[in-house]
Amino acid sequence: MSDIEQLVAQATTEFADIDDAAALEQAKARYLGKSGSVTELLKSLGKLEPEQRKRAGAAINSAKDRIEAMLNGRREAIRLAALEAQLKAEALDVTLPGRGLPTGGLHPVTRTLERIEALFRSIGFDVADGPEIEDDFHNFTALNTPENHPARSMHDTFYLQDAPGLLLRTHTSPIQVRFMEMHKPPIRVIAPGRVYRVDSDATHSPMFHQVEGLWIDEDVSFADLKGVFTDFLRNFFEKPDLRTRFRPSFFPFTEPSAEIDMSCVFCDGNGCRVCSHTGWLEIAGSGMVHPNVLKAVGIDSEKYIGFAFGMGPDRLTMLRYGVNDLRLFFDGDLRFLSQFK
Ligand code: PHE
Repeated sequence: MSDIEQLVAQATTEFADIDDAAALEQAKARYLGKSGSVTELLKSLGKLEPEQRKRAGAAINSAKDRIEAMLNGRREAIRLAALEAQLKAEALDVTLPGRGLPTGGLHPVTRTLERIEALFRSIGFDVADGPEIEDDFHNFTALNTPENHPARSMHDTFYLQDAPGLLLRTHTSPIQVRFMEMHKPPIRVIAPGRVYRVDSDATHSPMFHQVEGLWIDEDVSFADLKGVFTDFLRNFFEKPDLRTRFRPSFFPFTEPSAEIDMSCVFCDGNGCRVCSHTGWLEIAGSGMVHPNVLKAVGIDSEKYIGFAFGMGPDRLTMLRYGVNDLRLFFDGDLRFLSQFK
C-alpha cells in the first residue's frame, strides 16, 4: 500500500475511535492542518518531475477528499450523539404530579362578613363603610352619648395622642351616622368593620369586628326588628327553628333598647357548656333609634322612625365553626387559618 493509502487507512481507524468533537478537530489538524501529513505531502510535490507530480497530486487530492468526507461524516455522527444525549438528559416525565401553586383562603371572619352582607343585601340593605379613626362627634356625640358616659373614658377608648378629638372608633355606629348625613330616608344599611376597645382576654380583643344595621322609614316598628333579625339568624346558622328573645337593656342611642339572645346553636336550647346551661346565647344589641340621633343628623324625628342593631361577627364565626378562643382569629397562625380554606 502506498504511503498515501496508508495515511487514509490510518485516518479511518483514528477518526472512528473519536467520539468527542474537540478531539476530532485536533485529529483533523494532524492530517489537514498547516503541517498535517497530507499538507506535507502536498508541499513535497514541488520536488517531483512534472509527470510524476501530476499523478502524485491527483492521488494526494483524492486522499484529501476522502479524509475530509470521513471527517464530515464523523462530525455529524458526534453531533447527533450529543443531541441524543441532551434530549435524554432533559426529558420531561409528563406523568409526574405537578408542583401546584398553594391556594390561599379567606379568613373565617371575612367569610362571615361576606355571608352577613349577602343575607342583608338579599332583603334590600346597602353596605356602607367609614373611617376607623373617627372624631368624637360621629362616634359619641351624634349618638346621644353624653360627655360623662363611661364609654368615653380613657380606659375604654383609644384616643390619638397628638390629635385631640380623634379616636379609634369603638363601634361601627359612626358609619351609620355618616350614612344618615348623606342619605334621606328610607334608609336600609348595614355597617361592617373593625372597631377598637381597651379590652383583651379569651373572648375580647382590642381590635374586633362589628356589623351594625339600621332601617329608617315612616313606619318601621320593633316588630320589624324582631322579624328581620330573627330571620337573619335563622338563615345565617341554617336553623329554621332557631328562636330569639329580646331582653330590655340600655343604649344611649336607642329607646327602647334590647339585648338579643338566640337559642343555643349547639344544644338547640336544651342547655350545654357553650350556653352555660341556659339554652341562650347573647348575640346582639338593638333598639329603636333615639330621636336625638335623628335630630343630630338632620332627619325629622316626628316623621321618621327606625331600628338599629349591632352584633359581633367574630362571635358569630366562633359559634358557626365551634372555635372557643377569639385570639386564634387574630394570631395569624396558618395551622389554624388554613382549616377554613
Ligand atoms: N353600638 C352598640 C355597641 O357597640 C351596639 C348597638 C348598635 C346597640 C345598635 C343597639 C343598637 O355596643
